[in-house]
Amino acid sequence: MPSGKPEKFYRIAVLPGDGIGPEVIQQAVKVVKTIGKVYGHRFDFAYGLIGGAAVDETGSPLPEETLKLCQKSDAILLGAVGGPKWDGLPPEQRPEKALLSIRKTLNLFANLRPVKIYHPLASCPLKDEITRRGIDIMFVRQLTGGIYFGEKKTITRGDQIVARDVMEYSKKEIEDIARIAFETALKRRKKVTSVDKANVLETSRLWRKTVEEVWKKYPQVTLEHMLVDNCAMQLITRPYQFDVVLTGNMFGDILSDEGSMLSGSIGMMPSVSFGSQHSALYEPVHGSAPDIAGQNKANPLAAIISAAMMLKLSLHLKEEGDIIEDKIKKVLAEGYRTPDIMEPGKTQVGTQEMGQLIINEILKG
Ligand code: NAD
Ligand code: IPM
Ligand code: MN
Repeated sequence: MPSGKPEKFYRIAVLPGDGIGPEVIQQAVKVVKTIGKVYGHRFDFAYGLIGGAAVDETGSPLPEETLKLCQKSDAILLGAVGGPKWDGLPPEQRPEKALLSIRKTLNLFANLRPVKIYHPLASCPLKDEITRRGIDIMFVRQLTGGIYFGEKKTITRGDQIVARDVMEYSKKEIEDIARIAFETALKRRKKVTSVDKANVLETSRLWRKTVEEVWKKYPQVTLEHMLVDNCAMQLITRPYQFDVVLTGNMFGDILSDEGSMLSGSIGMMPSVSFGSQHSALYEPVHGSAPDIAGQNKANPLAAIISAAMMLKLSLHLKEEGDIIEDKIKKVLAEGYRTPDIMEPGKTQVGTQEMGQLIINEILKG
């Protein structure tokens, strides 16, 4: 660190969660610690319980203590929650409820999920002609509204059991997320594709009308609307057409998992969620992957790229974040692969080895 500059202290709340969450977060934390060592930054990692791990320990998926820790941190790094062990619990106690609550409580209404092609993975698993044209998509997903948060009820009607999840969006919620999408597009290729189901849903008709209104303040940006079923198809056939994809909570959840495969694996897709408050939350898009948990098989890159985004966006350490991404490219170019992105002729490594390879590259300078 250059002499004379006061040492800055960064407080990071780390919430490993369940399944592969702790495994991938361990690698991300190690990478950030290495950056701290090389660049002379002081990162203070404070661990909190979330998800099934928190249920087992405290009875609640999101203990008050964890929320407090997040509120006083500069950024939050989360692994994943959930697993078969807790699937039978009532909705309020399920690990997934912790994610919904932390997002709502901290007003993390905007969720950005980038899809990038890492050049060494370019041919896997897409056709060369598609990857040659380049894929660089930013999903902007509304995270605190829609069908996830509307009234939920199971009732008896006559002799039938009926369940409902109400889908609701206020104009203000749509305006706020639309603004984020247009602002994001201004820093990119200046195109927003707003995805809805306006041929069927009333919420989508309000969505479309409101997005059009917000667009008036962004004449430099091209706006197009696309129905969600068509978008699911076009992500596979013509992914290069997309720049910013703006959409609601549920469509964003589904389309971003689909989009993650454009980069080779869901184990490659990071995310940031933010809103009106101080702390943003960084997490891989994938879940707790119970099928591979505890086997050193998980790809830690989504978690490590999420940590790189955290350095750049919340801690304003752009150079350090870029270094991590460059070193990931280098390690991939040398042919190292976790099982999810393995190809013939490459060298298969585990979660820990992949983390260590990136650390070794950072230490080499
Ligand atoms: P998942 O994302 O956990 O796994 C889907 C598939 O992708 C599995 O085959 C898994 O092995 C693979 N996969 C996921 N991440 C990977 C990685 N980093 N490296 C290699 N392979 C990876 O989705 P699921 O199986 O539908 O859900 C499992 C649990 O996770 C559920 O309880 C679900 O509610 C929860 N979940 C949590 C989050 C989150 O915490 N943000 C997100 C999605 C699902
Ligand atoms: C995600 C997850 C969550 C969501 C679940 C686990 C509540 O799938 O972050 O993508 O649907 O938002
Ligand atoms: Mn999801």
